[in-house]
Amino acid sequence: MSRFSRPLLLALVLLAVLGTSNSQRPRDIEQTVNSLLSQMTLEEKLGQLQQLDGEGNGNFRPEHLDLIRKGLLGSTLNVRGARRTNEVQRVAMTESRLKIPVLFGFDVIHGYRTIFPIPLGEASSFDPSMAERSAAVAAQEANNAGLRWTFAPMVDIARDPRWGRISEGAGEDPFLGAAFARARVRGFQGDNYGAPDKILACAKHWVAYGNAEGGRDYNTTDLSENTLREIYFPPFKAAVDAGVGTLMSSFNAVNGVPASANAFTLTKVLRDEWKFDGFVVSDYTSVKELINHGVAANEEDAAAAALNAGVDMEMVSRSYNTFGSKLLQQKRLSQATIDEAVRRILRIKFRLGLFDHPYTDEAREPFSLLRTNSIHLAREIAGRSMVLLKNERETLPLNKNAGSIAVIGPLADDRRAPLGWWAGDGKDENTVSPLAGIKAKVSGQTKVGYARGCEVKGDSTAGFQEAVNLARASDVAVVFVGELHEMVGEAASRSTLDLPGRQMELVQAIQATGKPTIVVLVNGRPLSIEWIAGNVPAILESWMGGTESGNAIADILFGDVNPGAKLPVTFPRSVGQVPMYYNHMNTGRPPEAENRYTSKYIDSPWTPLFPFGYGLSYTTFKISNLQLSAPRIPANGKLTVSVEVENTGKRTGDEVVQLYIRDLVASMTRPVKELKGFQRVTLQPGEKRRVEFVLAQEHLGFWNREMRYVVEPGEFRVMVGANSAELIEAKFEVIPN
Ligand code: BGC
Repeated sequence: MSRFSRPLLLALVLLAVLGTSNSQRPRDIEQTVNSLLSQMTLEEKLGQLQQLDGEGNGNFRPEHLDLIRKGLLGSTLNVRGARRTNEVQRVAMTESRLKIPVLFGFDVIHGYRTIFPIPLGEASSFDPSMAERSAAVAAQEANNAGLRWTFAPMVDIARDPRWGRISEGAGEDPFLGAAFARARVRGFQGDNYGAPDKILACAKHWVAYGNAEGGRDYNTTDLSENTLREIYFPPFKAAVDAGVGTLMSSFNAVNGVPASANAFTLTKVLRDEWKFDGFVVSDYTSVKELINHGVAANEEDAAAAALNAGVDMEMVSRSYNTFGSKLLQQKRLSQATIDEAVRRILRIKFRLGLFDHPYTDEAREPFSLLRTNSIHLAREIAGRSMVLLKNERETLPLNKNAGSIAVIGPLADDRRAPLGWWAGDGKDENTVSPLAGIKAKVSGQTKVGYARGCEVKGDSTAGFQEAVNLARASDVAVVFVGELHEMVGEAASRSTLDLPGRQMELVQAIQATGKPTIVVLVNGRPLSIEWIAGNVPAILESWMGGTESGNAIADILFGDVNPGAKLPVTFPRSVGQVPMYYNHMNTGRPPEAENRYTSKYIDSPWTPLFPFGYGLSYTTFKISNLQLSAPRIPANGKLTVSVEVENTGKRTGDEVVQLYIRDLVASMTRPVKELKGFQRVTLQPGEKRRVEFVLAQEHLGFWNREMRYVVEPGEFRVMVGANSAELIEAKFEVIPN
């Protein structure tokens, strides 16, 4: 009768009748998927499991069109822009046999065109609603640019600042990490990732990628199952519970088994325990890399290992495509395994509404980018993400109506570093440099001078004199030092945490002028700035603050915004202390100054430079009067913990009240502190408020020796304060149910 086979026609009719709108019921989707699946050839099925990379500039590769026409390519990455994605989609929808739409993915990590602070910065806000809002803007921009899928949020816990990718996540803490994972998934996906302003999210990199030995990217990890479950899993679990549609399997090996061939993490935990029903994409060529890991002799082995373990879609390498059919014949892959992977991918494509709405409205794209509201939000979030690390003698805020300011340093007039490593489609020309932000802020009476001083990298000190002269001639010097965008992110591990190049000497030269010196850090990881912390009166950690970074910095420097962010990661004194994180175990010999044979260093204090959760404000706060709702609770009970927080200074400001617990005696060693609650509150001068937290089973337990989650009876300490080192405390007891 026609070019359609009968069953195919039936499937198409079913599609038309059911519609694939977002209101389509799950059962209908399952039926439609199964019906479509029954029409597919093996090659078409393997095609759905393949993702290929476009060109660096966002264009597609012409040869991919032919693959799509033949039904051999289900997804691309990096292809973007409504016109281009439509052009590709048209081939799928009009020239391929089954008309299965292509899924366009891209790394929209902290913004698409409007760039927000790097995720580590956003986590410093201790305000997950900020991440939800920035992800929502990113989703709206990306969707209008033809994208339907972001490889974000990156939810890897990172305890090693040498690892460049620490900048992409929420820092070292699983509780904070889980809160941000949840918020970002909600921001990208909303209630329905098929909505016109939403995109599908991808929690990555599953798993323990941040545990890379030596902080060297892609390196092996070897860690206990407890550590996996208690430290590295929680943000992923939070993402899954928030409905994340996809996960990405990581490059690293986990306890001898590469994450992209790890049936324990991919199937036992993800599918059997967590009931995840989306799909897993490999990381870039991580399937083929199983050969380098030494668990596959060739690509055939690699394909079998990855697909059987639970990686559904292969990014860039083509092992599934090339060897799937042979592996099936050899019975090293089953039809059921292939079908299940295809089913998972199609299910998501239906949920996205792609069959119904495969194209993007090209007219809307230009109006959706860099909207005024998005830019305002970028400025607000950047301001809420910057951490005041030191402020002696009220050096800050500066007066915008008088005097002269020397703006110094290689990052003072830089518009690339603030965008960070994964900057989506963000552009330098839309970015406000610190110098521009300062100039826009001050009134005509204030003189702003600028001297670069030196480069971020390199050995020249030729610019020092000019910078020193400028500082001498000014009332105050603000020095912008840190890292270039290429020094953070993927494949940007560092073996030192020092300021690169001659920047430290530049700071020292400026400080030596005797002028009040403020250091503003522009960077993507904790830096070892012990000298600066000891000698310079004011330090602002601005991270890489995105499109509006310069304006946000100026807002803080001149007091229009009162900083309230806190460090989501410990700042060590030196790289030699790494890994250093606040939620460590106690050891049998905790450090004691007077006792040599305790756990410490002979050449450095054991304490960090700045602890987790640390950050100052232009006002002061007092946290007091810790109260518990009961002295003891049953293991499945709830405890309300509250404190009074009071603004004791003269400005309105924000405090992040943090709650930590310690299980004092348990069947396994427990961390000395674990964050289990935080609230960022805004208080007027003199205002006092009681802040409440509820502790329950999910906060009090741990994974025991039998790998069961248990809340053990016994005494707990609860600690509340403004950072992980300054806490008031009380005790309570957990009794058997
Ligand atoms: C990174 C991922 C990223 C992917 C696609 C890989 O190299 O590890 O985080 O999503 O590339 O760009």
